[in-house]
Amino acid sequence: MTLSTDTLTKKTDLLHERYGTAFDFELNAAWNSSLTTLLSHRSVRAYLSQPLPSGTLETLIASAQSAATSSNLQTWSVIAVEDQKRKERLSQLANGQAHIQQCPLFLVWLADLARLRYLTEQRGLPHEGLNYLEMFLMAAIDASLAAQNAVIAAESLGLGTVYIGAMRNRPEEVAAELGLPKHVFAVFGLCVGYPNLEKKAAIKPRLPQEAVLHRETYNLETQATAINHYDEIMAAFYAQQQMNVDGNWSQHSSDRIASAQALRNRAQLREILNRLGFELR
Ligand SMILES: Cc1cc2nc3c(=O)[nH]c(=O)nc-3n(C[C@H](O)[C@H](O)[C@H](O)COP(=O)(O)O)c2cc1C
Repeated sequence: MTLSTDTLTKKTDLLHERYGTAFDFELNAAWNSSLTTLLSHRSVRAYLSQPLPSGTLETLIASAQSAATSSNLQTWSVIAVEDQKRKERLSQLANGQAHIQQCPLFLVWLADLARLRYLTEQRGLPHEGLNYLEMFLMAAIDASLAAQNAVIAAESLGLGTVYIGAMRNRPEEVAAELGLPKHVFAVFGLCVGYPNLEKKAAIKPRLPQEAVLHRETYNLETQATAINHYDEIMAAFYAQQQMNVDGNWSQHSSDRIASAQALRNRAQLREILNRLGFELR
């Protein structure tokens, strides 16, 4: 397949930005607008106050529901938050992240085992399987796949998004704010809105494929060169974007996992999940 010059240039540029360096592979392989949307992703942390066109929420949710889901159990739900005061309270529960208050739509993605529990109880059926770690993981995976479909849909419509893992900083207070029953857990939030292009976010480079793509079997040692190369790329990226990051990616990542304290409030997650009704056996 031969790509038009315009498409080839777009593809080459996007791959360059995604890896922070020229990317060398069969550039004439298939390309389309979906791939352009995927490779153009960047998290957006500055939004216009412009509201979303009516029907946008429903379009995003239909996209989310089109994701695959384990055994079609659909063990996820989502809460759409548009009330300004509620967004402010959720922002406070997430380290005061300002974009939560600024975006017109804040979606909270839920691992939801309450629905299956409810329907089995209504029918007088057992639900012991819900008490196992496997079911919590399944629900978290389902919620993640659904959310990512919504992200791609939003980006294809010219909207920006940013995930908010900080919804897990104070899960019990988040659950109270959103009226979550037991057996429902807010996995992460997602800001959605029109990006403020005056503060346009850059595409953030990712690890070279040599680090993440393994052929046939896994290899750890061969990743060293790729990691070193990525450290150089990210040090330059942090400087260029004037990001307040100490050192390079390896250093930054190491700091995030150095201790239980580095997980911030999330080191107690197992106990919190237990209290929220997840036994995690
Ligand atoms: C599950 C998850 C949770 C995240 N939580 C936050 C968050 O709380 N605040 C934030 O500003 N960005 C958050 N992010 C965004 C990441 O920082 C971002 O995706 C990463 O730095 C890569 O940048 P990019 O999305 O612009 O490519 C989160 C991303 C994911 C996938």
